[in-house]
Formats: sequence, structure tokens, C-alpha cells
Amino acid sequence: MGSGIAQACAQAGFDVTVREVDQRAIERGFASVDGSLARLVKGGRAAEADAKAARERIQPTISLEDLRDCDLVIEAVLEIMAVKRDVFAELDRCCKPETIFTSNTSSLPITDMAAITKRTDRFAGLHFFNPVAVMQLVEIVRGISTSDETMATLRAFVEKLGKTPVICKDTPGFVVNKLLVPYMIGAIRLLEQDVASPEDIDAAVKLGLRHPMGPFELLDYTGLDICMHVANVLYEEFKDPSMAPPPLLRRMVAAGHLGRKSGRGFYEYDEKGDRKKS
Ligand code: 3HC
Repeated sequence: MGSGIAQACAQAGFDVTVREVDQRAIERGFASVDGSLARLVKGGRAAEADAKAARERIQPTISLEDLRDCDLVIEAVLEIMAVKRDVFAELDRCCKPETIFTSNTSSLPITDMAAITKRTDRFAGLHFFNPVAVMQLVEIVRGISTSDETMATLRAFVEKLGKTPVICKDTPGFVVNKLLVPYMIGAIRLLEQDVASPEDIDAAVKLGLRHPMGPFELLDYTGLDICMHVANVLYEEFKDPSMAPPPLLRRMVAAGHLGRKSGRGFYEYDEKGDRKKS
């Protein structure tokens, strides 16, 4: 999601430094930003000159040191606590003391990440939604030690992005994923019980609830591995069976059927990520 977040910040007029692990990752990120900006221009949601200016405000780097003068860091690395803590420990050494640290984690505890730094009051969650360019919500997650001042700064920042903040407590899944994951798991269980096909379950939800996507379309869109990861985190914390990843989800992830990004999930996709006609 890093590229989408960088793009949203640049479009709001912020100078953005994006740190990636290598040059290939930088190129992939820019390809995604270019594709997204082109869609916004095509749909009349952004002027061509503004899109070009936004693109130019994004500076790539492979050195964490280059973030030293940033006012705000938004971390979007792998959803593995040890990796996040390593990154924040390093950032804490190289960034100026005033820098606010945030994580785009979808479910991991913010307070555990903050604890590796010496700025627990200037640490919070900033959880964006896919596709970042069009989704209006950002959850601002308050850790146990996050200060009022940090929360106020982050609220103003999210509003400057043109998005709507929702403040939530540091609890697994925050608001959206706490509701979304049991719903997705429920849909997979319907499939396991042969209640209806993925196409029919998706049609039922889109037509019956006016959701833009059905649960299987959304699972493929966000990634089955992501859903399984969040489900595992929620289950570990609450031990609530409605949150445990069902066998079919585990098998599909083990088989590499991760959704749109792998070309196959509950549906099949071409190289451009478009769904194949069945
Ligand atoms: N960049 C820029 N514009 C984009 C875009 C992107 N990445 N993706 C879609 N758009 C634009 C399209 O260009 C189109 O613009 P237009 O109206 O000007 O032509 C508009 O959005 C609608 O897109 P489409 O016509 O392609 O298709 P849809 O009408 O089906 O919309 C969708 C696509 C916005 C993805 C919509 O289906 C949707 O809202 N789906 C649900 C998404 C959702 O629930 N996201 C949350 C996932 S959970 C999460 O992220 C949390 C994490 O922790 C797991």
C-alpha cells in the first residue's frame, strides 16, 4: 500500500520521501503511482498538471537515513512484528526527535511497535484502505501512550489528504478489520458448506446489501494471505472461533492462490489483473 499512501500525500501537496528496499521495488511503486494517477486524470478526478506535480514531489531512496528530516513517517513494511520493530528502532536512531512515527498495519498492536522507540507519545497507527486513491477512510489508532498533540496533528494531516479520520483504540483489527474479517470468513464457510457459489454469494451481497464488491471479489482484491494474517491475529487475541481462518482459506493460501496478485484466488485474472471471463 506504500505507493498509494505516497501518492495520496503528494497529491495533497506534501513533499514525500519513499524508502524502498531496492531499485526494483522503487520502479514497481512508481509504475503503480503512474497507473493510478493516469486513472484519476482519465476519470476527471485530477488535472493532468496536478498529477504531474504530485509525481515530482515523490523522491525515492533506498536509505533509511534519508528520512531523518521528515516530520511524519508512515511505515508500510511487511506485516511481521519483528520486521516492523527493527525498522522503527533504526528510524528512532536516525530521525529528528520531533518526527511522528505511524504504522499502516492492518491489525498488529501499535503499542508494541512504539515500545521499541523513545517516542511512544509521538507514535500512532494510520491505517489506509485499498485503493488508497479512492477510499475516503483513514483509521487513526491511538496507542496507550500516544499524546493528545500527536492525535490532533494526525487528524489535521488526514483531513489535509482530503480523507475522513476515524479515531480508534489500539485493539486487534481496529474498527474495519474487526468487522470485515469475520464477514469474509463467514462467506468462505458458506462456500465450504455448499450453500451457494462464489458468484452467487457475491451477487447476493452486491444486490442485497449494495456493497461495491462481494466478499470473494474483495478477498481476491485485498489478498487471501492478508485476510488469513489478520484472522490469525484476531483469533490469537480473542480466541473467538468466528475469527479463525477456515480450512479452505488455509489451503488456498498454501497453494499460492492469493487472489488478483497471483492470478488466481476464488476467480482467475489475466496479467493486467483483470478478471477472466468464466
Ligand atoms: N487509483 C485511481 N483510481 C482508481 C483506482 C486506483 N488504484 N482504483 C479504482 N479507481 C477509480 C477508477 O478509475 C474509477 O474512476 P472513474 O469513476 O473516474 O471512472 C473508479 O475508481 C471506480 O473504479 P472502477 O470503475 O474500476 O470499478 P468499481 O466501480 O467497481 O470501483 C473499487 C472499484 C473502488 C475498488 C470498488 O469496487 C470498491 O470500492 N471496492 C471495495 C473496496 C474496499 O472495500 N476496500 C477496503 C479493503 S480492506 C483494506 O484495504 C484494509 C486492509 O487492512 C486489508
